[in-house]
Amino acid sequence: MTLSTFRTVKDLRAQVAAWRGQGLRVALVPTMGALHAGHLSLVQQGFTRADRVIASIFVNPTQFGPGEDFDKYPRQEQADADLLRSVGCSALYAPTAAEMYAPGFCTTVTVAGLSEDLCGITRPTHFAGVATVVTKLLLQALPDVALFGEKDFQQLTVIRRTVRDLDIPVEIAGVPTLREADGLAMSSRNRYLGPDERRIAPLLYRVLSDVGPGFLAGQMAGDLCAQAEKRLLDGGFASVDYVSVRDAETLETVPKWEGRPIRVLGAAKLGAARLIDNLGFPV
Ligand code: PAJ
Repeated sequence: MTLSTFRTVKDLRAQVAAWRGQGLRVALVPTMGALHAGHLSLVQQGFTRADRVIASIFVNPTQFGPGEDFDKYPRQEQADADLLRSVGCSALYAPTAAEMYAPGFCTTVTVAGLSEDLCGITRPTHFAGVATVVTKLLLQALPDVALFGEKDFQQLTVIRRTVRDLDIPVEIAGVPTLREADGLAMSSRNRYLGPDERRIAPLLYRVLSDVGPGFLAGQMAGDLCAQAEKRLLDGGFASVDYVSVRDAETLETVPKWEGRPIRVLGAAKLGAARLIDNLGFPV
């Protein structure tokens, strides 16, 4: 059996309306394809919250900056459709760029402040691209719930803020990060790593894991993050964009623990890949 695939907003909405008419709840899992087990876990989680789960695949040009990997981002729709079918996904929405961005498109959703911090420092246009395309996907499908991975924690926070600020009537669910056996967070971009780099890559997870306990024990974020960055560079990472301790809800800096849940986030370059990861504390 092939997976039902919709290319237009009109066809997508007709399917969602038909399901609604039958009294079914609908979930949406937005992706850029090149699917791995982490993406599939979002689909599986979707079925715990809805009767039908739609995955979308759209490599969104507006969230890639100049010189980033838009052209070489892996595109493998048939293999992705097979994977989605293997976990029982109900439908695939894979619009063309022309369907998503009609000629003369000129509206952008910007989440001020939050989008300029952390990953936004080196990727200044990224989160406006994400917020805009996710707003469109949510309004196109109008699901009951949409699921996003904690792997991209700043993205999840930006999306929660967008949905709240714009009164988009969709519940946003965060899903824990799926990891390889050695701790490396699964990512479509891990395929950019050569064998030596792949061996080094899980250091990011280990280093971030070690920041939390020290912070909860009263050490200063600045000291812990400086040590973490040094360990990454000593361990073979080419450069570190940031290691930072943040309030888990607002993503504001927290110099010293004050009892609220925190998130330790990091981004670092290794060969052709830029890896990001994050962990929540207390666990
Ligand atoms: P993409 O990188 O394809 O990721 C799609 C979704 O899968 C995101 O919500 C992401 O956080 C989640 N994900 C990725 N790796 C994961 C892992 N190891 N465990 C759990 N979830 C994981 O993120 C995007 O696409 C785009 O920015 C998008 C939201 C689709 C907008 O274009």
